[in-house]
Amino acid sequence: MRFDSSFIEELKARCDIVDVVGSYVGLKRAGSNYVGLCPFHNEKSPSFTVFTKSDSCYCFGCGAGGDVITFIMNVENLDYVSAIELLAKRAGLTMPVDNSSAAAVNKRKRILEMNKAAARFFNSEFASGKYKNATAYAEKRGLSGSLGKRFGIGFCPDSFGALAMHLRSLGYTSAEMKEGFLCGEGKSGKLFDYYRNRLIFPIIDPAGNVVAFGGRALGDEKPKYLNTNDTPAFKKGRNIFALNFAKNSKEDYFILCEGYTDVIALHGAGFTSAVAGLGTAFTQEQASLLKKYKDKVVICYDGDEAGRKATNRAIPILTAASLEVRALSLPAGIDPDEFLQKYGKERFRHLIDESKSEFQFKCDAILAKYNIAIPEEKIKASSEVCALLAAMTSDVERDVYTAKAAKLFDVSEESLKTDVKKKRYSLIRQEKKKFNEGVRRSAMGLGDRVNPDTVKNVRAARAEEAILGIAQINPEYMEKAEKEGILTADTFFTAFGKKVYTAIRDIFEKERKFDPAFLAGDFTPEEIGRITKIRIDRQQLSNNTYDVFAQSASALAKEKEASEMPVETLSDIEALIQSKRNK
Ligand code: UTP
Ligand code: MN
Repeated sequence: MRFDSSFIEELKARCDIVDVVGSYVGLKRAGSNYVGLCPFHNEKSPSFTVFTKSDSCYCFGCGAGGDVITFIMNVENLDYVSAIELLAKRAGLTMPVDNSSAAAVNKRKRILEMNKAAARFFNSEFASGKYKNATAYAEKRGLSGSLGKRFGIGFCPDSFGALAMHLRSLGYTSAEMKEGFLCGEGKSGKLFDYYRNRLIFPIIDPAGNVVAFGGRALGDEKPKYLNTNDTPAFKKGRNIFALNFAKNSKEDYFILCEGYTDVIALHGAGFTSAVAGLGTAFTQEQASLLKKYKDKVVICYDGDEAGRKATNRAIPILTAASLEVRALSLPAGIDPDEFLQKYGKERFRHLIDESKSEFQFKCDAILAKYNIAIPEEKIKASSEVCALLAAMTSDVERDVYTAKAAKLFDVSEESLKTDVKKKRYSLIRQEKKKFNEGVRRSAMGLGDRVNPDTVKNVRAARAEEAILGIAQINPEYMEKAEKEGILTADTFFTAFGKKVYTAIRDIFEKERKFDPAFLAGDFTPEEIGRITKIRIDRQQLSNNTYDVFAQSASALAKEKEASEMPVETLSDIEALIQSKRNK
């Protein structure tokens, strides 16, 4: 959908980029700009910059950037329209109505309604008591009774297309059932139910919509769980199981587990802030979703190697969303569901109370590896702990934990501090080096994913950047240059440059001004980052005049002509150079 430029302007005026970015990233003032740790990649020294003059942001470390709208698209992983929706809500603006997105909204609505109908169907089949194997299994797992009811547990009968038939009778089409990942189509064109003979766990979003299903096999059939694939109403990495209940719990923390059954068992035992991802690696979007409701998370993954690894992977993702993270370790080979059955809720409460900070959790993993009674092992362990401490960004936190670690290893705090300091310097040096290397490579156009044509002619690409930078600042130059016949979209050498130029020109033609917000629909966030950088780079310079614009255009034309020289001519030149060298 295209928004009115006055709406976008109003929106941007009301959503100060420093405020908006500041609610995701801790920002510090740096001159007229602000800097902070980039939310889009892991870093220890801040390279994410908010430019107050141009209302844009850019990360010098990873190249992410854009305006307040593209920032929200990136950080919340939303499409253009949803990002605008979120900002409008924040600013208290009403969204303009649009007919083109109405179709998509409608489709989503239909699928959600169909899901609700399916959930009711599964539910009443389960409650009918007709399917003894399902009832017995649910009982065994503690999923019958009021707890199962609360979670809307259901059952999909083991017949070819019982659900399909039911949905058809309600007026849903085959296409809708397939799109909603409820049914597939056999060779004969007959629909079959995906979840046949499975216990059903509906996945309900915070707004109360049934967005997806997980189906547990009653026995050892594979897969153990069948889950809804992405549909127009559902994206896996953006949803969290049981958040609809847990968000209202009185605790100020979520308990994050791996499995549906863990969550339900925890709720049954009174731990109503338990949630789970949906069987995929925990994502940044899921972390932001949690952060909307609470500031703390206790990770409670299974007590095995995989669980520990998943914990280590989830920690930085959660902390990047400014969540305070703790983790608890379950006994080997046990998940929360089994723990509750074996040891009861008092002991689980105790585990929560004793849950460890990120540092403690990692520190314990190191200590478990070594025997610190042996000097060599103690040195190794302490060096690994130093690395953990050195990676901490907060000075206070680093000091506090250094003191703790000193006690743990029975060494003087001073000497440990010196070691940590050394490690931290080398860490920062390494990062700087990596950063500079990135800058060098990008200056040479190497490994440029956004504009891969750069390597083919670096000079042409540079001229293009000058043109595109100035065009964003003074878009009227494009018309002037086109009138004078020194520039058209076809003058551009790289496909990316041509696409960006065309887009800027089209926007200017319609709006009589240029606003990067209008690019968002047609470019990837990475491309927007680049376009923003091109503008910011130009804004640092004071010579964004028509003369420079025109010179860049003619430089580009020359480069383009040279690179379009017929191959014979090129090889002639090479031969010439070669012969000169040989002289
Ligand atoms: P687990 O294998 O730990 O399952 O996977 P669980 O929840 O403890 O299940 P039970 O107790 O054996 O019934 C954890 C989560 O990973 C996803 C599910 O979301 C599950 O809850 N998963 C697992 C799948 O999506 N598919 C699978 O085949 C297995
Ligand atoms: Mn389990």
